[in-house]
Order: sequence, then C-alpha cells, then structure tokens
Amino acid sequence: MRYGPWALVAGASHGMGAEYSRQIARKGLNVVLVAEAADPLEALARSLATEHRIETRAVVLDLALPDLLARLDEATRDLEVGLLVYNAAYSVVGAFRDVSLADKLKMLEVNCRGPLVLAHHFGLRMAERGRGGIIVMSSLAGFQGQAMVGTYAATKAFDLVLGETLWEELRDRGVDALAFCPGATRTPTFLASKPRPSGVLSAPLMDPAATVAEALAALGGGPSAIAGRANRLAAFVLHRLLPRRALVRIMSRATRAMYG
Ligand SMILES: NC(=O)c1ccc[n+]([C@@H]2O[C@H](COP(=O)([O-])OP(=O)(O)OC[C@H]3O[C@@H](n4cnc5c(N)ncnc54)[C@H](OP(=O)(O)O)[C@@H]3O)[C@@H](O)[C@H]2O)c1
Repeated sequence: MRYGPWALVAGASHGMGAEYSRQIARKGLNVVLVAEAADPLEALARSLATEHRIETRAVVLDLALPDLLARLDEATRDLEVGLLVYNAAYSVVGAFRDVSLADKLKMLEVNCRGPLVLAHHFGLRMAERGRGGIIVMSSLAGFQGQAMVGTYAATKAFDLVLGETLWEELRDRGVDALAFCPGATRTPTFLASKPRPSGVLSAPLMDPAATVAEALAALGGGPSAIAGRANRLAAFVLHRLLPRRALVRIMSRATRAMYG
C-alpha cells in the first residue's frame, strides 16, 4: 500500500474501525488505533502487532474533547501518519424534539469537528510531504434530511462534503481523499440500535469486512463512493430520480418504521 508508514484509525475498537485496522495492518502499515474503550483497543493493537509484525499504538481518547488536537499531537508527534481514516461516529436516534441538546452537540463534535481537526492536522502534513490518503466516513443518511436521525444525517452530509473537498484540494499535492458512504452495515453499534425492517428500498445488511475493503479499494479514485451494488442502485433511484420533497418523505417513512 502506498500510504504509510503509519495509518491512524479514529474509532478503531469495534465495528468498521476495527476492520479498517485489521485490513490496513494486513497491508503492512503500522497502525495508531484511537477510541475511548481501553481494553478492546489495547487487545486489538497487541494482536495486530503480533499477527502482522507491525508496530501499533493504542491511544485512548474521547474525540469530542475540546483539546483533542493537543492530546492527539502529543500521542503521535513522533510518527509519520500517511493514512488517516476518520471512522468514529456518535449517533442518538429520536425525533428532533426528543434528542437532548447535549447529544446533538456531541454528534457535531465527534462527527464533524473531529474529522475537520484531524484532516487539518494530518492532511496538511501529508500535503507538505506530497503523499498520503484520507478516508472520511459518511453515510447514505448524509444525502437527505431524515426524521429520527436528523442531526446524525446532517453531520454525515458535512462528512460527505468535507471528504469531497479534500479530494479536490489535496490531490495535486499527492494526497488521495475519499468520502465513503455505507448503507446499513452489521456492526455492534448498528445492531444495538435495534432497527426494524424499513420496507423502503432497503438493501441487505453488509458485512463490515466487505464495506471496508470497498472503501480502501476506492481510495485514489473519485471524491466519494457508496458501499455495495444494492446501495448504489437504491441511491441512484432515490437521489437522481425523485424530487427532494418525495425523497425526504420516503426516507423519513423508512426511519420512522425502523425506530418510531
Ligand atoms: N453501521 C452502519 O450501518 C453505518 C451505516 C452508514 C455509515 N456508518 C458510518 O460508519 C462509521 C463506523 O460505524 P460503526 O457502526 O462501525 O461504528 P460506530 O459506533 O459509529 O463507531 C465505532 C468506533 O468509534 C469509536 N468512538 C465513538 N465515539 C467516540 C469518541 N467520542 N471518541 C473516540 N472514539 C469514539 C468507538 O469506540 P469506543 O466505543 O471505544 O468509543 C468505535 O471504535 C461511522 O462513521 C458511521 O457513521 C455506519
């Protein structure tokens, strides 16, 4: 893999973040793993180091902290990070009036401020060196307003636009960027949200390993990509053929069926 020698995965302890860490380690890069829960993070860091004969570093950190940059810089200052994956997300499901302001602001901090700070810090260093890669995890939720997941969806729209902008602005500096948009994926966080079937153009649940493999393969191609053929087909129908009013209403019907 041409990015390296170190990758940093923000939100690495389970779900797609753990899968990113595994697949990147398999390609021979050293990996900094960042998450809040120390035990799974440190266990994964140890097992990847042993299995793939790479170096790993577990950084236990809340990505919502105001002094995020100072803490992360202190933990990684001696490393050349050539691949950044911003995977972590915070999501509280509920009608807009029912979700607390504290939860709304935490979604903004983890899902928007976090990737912005890390892309600024590591991305500009990559551009100075003339090489690197950045993946910002967005979502199919980021393409339209949606009941029950409105703030989360809005943060994912931010991630989509941020990743695409980095693609445009950094590629002539040797840095590949990608906004990656999964649909429903079988991760512990998704399963814990206990979704019911929505019945609306719902593609089958994807496995984290397949989703992450697609993201890594798409880096270096276009500005953004959607995971899975069924999701791409549904996205084409929903985003290109429907008026916005119909799109928002249909997707809101789906999220109300899942979580209402
Ligand atoms: N799963 C899906 O169906 C789906 C669909 C579309 C898009 N996505 C996007 O794909 C990405 C991964 O989703 P996921 O379901 O695998 O997992 P996730 O629950 O969104 O995030 C998992 C990782 O983020 C870490 N994390 C969360 N908040 C953190 C914080 N404040 N500070 C540090 N680490 C934090 C978690 O570790 P700790 O628990 O230790 O903090 C965990 O390692 C997200 O960006 C999500 O929006 C997911």
